[in-house]
Amino acid sequence: MTHTPLVLSGMQPTNTLHLGNYLGALKNWVRMQEEMPCLFCVVDMHAITADAGYGKPAELAQSIREVTAAYIAAGVDPKRTPIFNQGQVPEHAELAWVFNCVARLGWLDRMTQFKEKSGKHKERASVGLYTYPVLMAADILVYRATHVPVGEDQKQHLELARDIAAKFNNDFGAPDFFPQPEPVITGTATRVMSLRDGTKKMSKSDESDASRINLTDDAETIASKIKRAKTDPLPLPASKDELKDRPEAENLLNIYAALAEQDRDAVIAQFAGQQFSGFKTALADLTVARLEPINKEMRRLLGDPGEIDNILRSGASRARAIATPIMDEVKKRVGFIS
Ligand code: TYM
Repeated sequence: MTHTPLVLSGMQPTNTLHLGNYLGALKNWVRMQEEMPCLFCVVDMHAITADAGYGKPAELAQSIREVTAAYIAAGVDPKRTPIFNQGQVPEHAELAWVFNCVARLGWLDRMTQFKEKSGKHKERASVGLYTYPVLMAADILVYRATHVPVGEDQKQHLELARDIAAKFNNDFGAPDFFPQPEPVITGTATRVMSLRDGTKKMSKSDESDASRINLTDDAETIASKIKRAKTDPLPLPASKDELKDRPEAENLLNIYAALAEQDRDAVIAQFAGQQFSGFKTALADLTVARLEPINKEMRRLLGDPGEIDNILRSGASRARAIATPIMDEVKKRVGFIS
């Protein structure tokens, strides 16, 4: 059986979204809406797995609204595409429990993101943080989604989702029950790096705000962060071979190419041999030009939180209409009496 194409993706509502989230994922979501039916989720249940979203109900609720506003401001159309928060669709948690029994400890032990996030004191991490990728598999498969547009850092989690789908299909005698969801990792900025260290991923949890460009930063802040971004003493390279061992230069060129929607080689040719100062001015102008309308629209949408809540409620009910019959079939397959 071939499964009907369907896109699902999500972002955590912890802190504000940054340029990495936009270029690695959100920008591609907007494009994919033109190609296939989509569902976009605000993963609030994932957000409480770590300190950033745990025990702070007012901040979490605000963050859910901000992320929703960012999706819409970037171009996701809530009329066409359901936007919802995971917490309003109980089938995610239901399927995650079944998947907790499908996934093996050894599989989760290999997850690099858990190792990074739990740090030196693994025993103090929540159990939720450990089974985080299992919930992610449920997010995708509860809709039988086939395509998952994400940044490169989610690749391993997608592999786990595929393994869980295959094992469920095998163990419950249903060879095609769940699809093998495909990661869609496209563009020149699938892994945007920190502005302070070109070997580290741009991240919401980095202590230094100067390491990232937030979607809510104003023009002046964006320009100042780019101006202060770490670079090396050489001029800009004339070819991509010269980018070897120059992670900061590579990162800034990738960001430029992604924002300008140009081929990276064309961008390298355009700035070849120039000093970083001029390039940084061009990059700051481009970043402001791309982010300012999103920022402005986000602020407008956040002025009416009731409307955002309505969008989430309606998105959740549309999402549940897809998830409920699939979850009913899962229960039957597993042997639960209903
Ligand atoms: P999250 O919230 O960490 O990030 C949201 C999306 O942004 C991408 N991303 C980046 N892309 C490029 N460069 C970066 N520096 C960068 N930082 C983040 C992420 O790859 C992601 O696509 N586990 C997911 C959320 C999730 C999910 C799902 C995604 C939960 N369930 C189901 C897809 C399908 C996460 O923590 O993303």
